Amino acid sequence: MLILDIMIPFVNLTGQRNAYRKELEEAEKSVLDSGCYIGGPEVRALEEELGSFCSEPPCDGIPCGERRGQIDAVTCASGTDALTLALIALGVNPGDEVIVPDFTFIAPAECVAFLGGIPRFADIDPETLLIDPSSVEALIGPKTRGIIGVDLFGQCAPFMELRKIADAHGLWVLEDAAQAFGATVISGDESAADAAAGAKPRRACTFGDIAITSFYPSKPLGCYGDGGAIFTADVELAEKVRMLANHGSKERYLHETVGMNSRLDALQAAILRVKLRHFEDELKVRRENARKYDEFFAEYNARVDAGAGASAGLRVSASARIVPQRIVENCTSTYAQYTVLAENRESFTRVFDAAGIPHCIHYPQPLHEQPCFRELAQGSENKNAIEASKKAVSLPVCAFTDVDFIIDKLRAAL
Ligand SMILES: Cc1ncc(COP(=O)(O)O)c(C=O)c1O
Repeated sequence: MLILDIMIPFVNLTGQRNAYRKELEEAEKSVLDSGCYIGGPEVRALEEELGSFCSEPPCDGIPCGERRGQIDAVTCASGTDALTLALIALGVNPGDEVIVPDFTFIAPAECVAFLGGIPRFADIDPETLLIDPSSVEALIGPKTRGIIGVDLFGQCAPFMELRKIADAHGLWVLEDAAQAFGATVISGDESAADAAAGAKPRRACTFGDIAITSFYPSKPLGCYGDGGAIFTADVELAEKVRMLANHGSKERYLHETVGMNSRLDALQAAILRVKLRHFEDELKVRRENARKYDEFFAEYNARVDAGAGASAGLRVSASARIVPQRIVENCTSTYAQYTVLAENRESFTRVFDAAGIPHCIHYPQPLHEQPCFRELAQGSENKNAIEASKKAVSLPVCAFTDVDFIIDKLRAAL
């Protein structure tokens, strides 16, 4: 009999669908039978739920602060559209400079450039892999209009520091939480009085003047196609974004401004509403999966550090440590990816391949080295971003991944 190795998916979307099948099929049927496919009650209900989710601090065993200002959520057709809409609403014009992290998915820089703006690439912290505020400060000039902080791999960017820099220079802050819907930061606010009043958890998508997320299928909260949302506590900004996403129109066939067609359809909204009901539980499992990886890599690095090498059964060079992205104390990540920095990435990915463990390289190049930005970014020397692009490897971590099985395979292989 032929025994085939079971393929482990990088994100187990079929496992998730099987778990919620009944609820999903009921929700899908209800939309298909309704005849209402764009906008309508499902989209409105989802926007309410997304807004409440972000407005209400999670109180799970953590002392909660008072309720924050209500966050408006406006859904749209993708995370990339959400960025574009937010940037238009913030007033980005050709020639305006916007500071973005050099190590991330291309979308934030791409959307700035698409509107005629100039992305300026800031270096990252070598451990958290998040935008480095001191690098941001060094890039500010007379044409700078704003800063985009990306919540990379599910951990919030250092928004308290970014906000201080932005306020000192009259800039706006945009939070790209495409990978981090559901993440939290448990810390005092900007003011010392808040800090003195005790720890307050705060959700991703509430930092910055405006924030966005993505519902791409493999994201922590994903739909069955493209989808995205914009979040803001600024009522006027929310109204502007809503109008821009609907052909610049508030009233049918009356177009106040030139806009876009960027709407989330009702079917995706209904699917997201089902998944949102299970989302907190999924996040707990993701975090537990990440904890197991942390434990395994700590144990592995201890063997490497001890120089045990071959005598401890290490199959890869003894100098090859594997260091997980550092999650800052008081932050909880959504672990959109469980990403490690491997000194000797090629030999590690060969081990993963041989063991049948899927992995991805997020991201193989810093943005300033991308062909489309090379000319514009001449002279960029972001050494931490370059280093991360040579070492980063992401492992499967979703709530439907059997991480114990993967760790057993890794233990046998490393
Ligand atoms: C950081 C970041 N921003 C924006 C996006 C764009 O989202 P979408 O794929 O929904 O357009 C992504 C998608 O991967 C992302 O990772």
